[in-house]
Amino acid sequence: MTTIENGSGARELAGKRALVTGGSRGIGAAVVRQLLDAGAEVLTTARSATTAVPEGATFVEADVRTRAGAEALAAAVQEELGGVDILVHNVGGARPYKDASAIPDEEWQEALELNFLASVRLDSLLVPGMRDRRSGMIVHVSSAAVLTPMGPFLHYTTAKAALENYSRGLSLELAPHGIRVNTVSPGRTATPGGETTREQWARLSVAPGQTNADDTPPLGREGQPDDIAQAVLFLVSDRASWLTGSNLVVDGGEFPRG
Ligand SMILES: NC(=O)c1ccc[n+]([C@@H]2O[C@H](COP(=O)([O-])OP(=O)(O)OC[C@H]3O[C@@H](n4cnc5c(N)ncnc54)[C@H](OP(=O)(O)O)[C@@H]3O)[C@@H](O)[C@H]2O)c1
Repeated sequence: MTTIENGSGARELAGKRALVTGGSRGIGAAVVRQLLDAGAEVLTTARSATTAVPEGATFVEADVRTRAGAEALAAAVQEELGGVDILVHNVGGARPYKDASAIPDEEWQEALELNFLASVRLDSLLVPGMRDRRSGMIVHVSSAAVLTPMGPFLHYTTAKAALENYSRGLSLELAPHGIRVNTVSPGRTATPGGETTREQWARLSVAPGQTNADDTPPLGREGQPDDIAQAVLFLVSDRASWLTGSNLVVDGGEFPRG
C-alpha cells in the first residue's frame, strides 16, 4: 500500500486520534487497519473482541445501540485517547424479511437503533470536544441499497436514509466549526455480515425484476472491505479538506444514481 505523507514528511494521519465502531471484522476492521497504516491512533469497539481486530488498535467492548453503551464508549475514548479527531460510524446491518409487512415492530426498532440512533447518540457525546478544538472528521457508513429501497430491507434502508439526511444536516451545522461530516455508501461487500445477510435473502423468494442476491456489479466483482476503507480514509484525510455533506457511493457501479 502507498504511504501518503503530509507536508512535513510524516504519515498523513500522524497525531490523529480515531474511533471506529464495529472494528472486529468486515469493513470496520479494514478501516481500522488503514487508519493505523496512515499513522492514526485508533480505538475500536464491538460487542466482543475477535482475532480480526487489527494489531495496534485499542479495543473496548461496548454495545452502541444503547445510551449506556454510547456513554461507556465516550468515557473510554476520553480515558484512552483524550478525545477524537476522526469518528467513523461503521456499525450497521439488518436481517431481511419476505416483504415489508413481515418486518416485526421490534426489528424496525432494532434497525433504527443500530443504523441511525447509535450514530446520533455517539455524535452528541463526541462532537462537543471537536467543536472546542474547532476541528474533526466524521464519516457515517450508510448503504447503496438506499438508492433502490425494497420490501425485504425497508427497515434497514429507511434507517440508513435517515442517517444520510441527518449526516447532511449535521455537516451544515458543523461546517462553521471546522468539522467535516460525510457519508460512505457501500454496495455489496465481502464481509461476514454481508455474507450472512445475502444467505438469508437467498432463502427468501424474491419477486422477478428486483435486484437479486446473486447479481454481479458492472465492475465485475463484489467489493472488498479495503475498497470501502479507501473511501473512508480519503474522506478523513486533508486530501478531502473541501468536502463535507457528501455521500460517496462505492458499489462497483451497481446501484442507479439519482
Ligand atoms: N457488507 C455489505 O455488503 C454492506 C453493504 C452496504 C452497507 N454495509 C454497511 O457497512 C457497515 C459494516 O458492514 P459489515 O458488512 O462490515 O458488517 P459485519 O461484518 O456484520 O461487522 C459488523 C461489526 O459491527 C459490530 N457490531 C454489530 N452490532 C454492534 C453493536 N450493537 N454494538 C457494537 N458493535 C456492533 C460487529 O461486532 P459484534 O457483532 O461482535 O458486536 C462487527 O465488528 C454496516 O453499517 C453495513 O450496514 C455493508
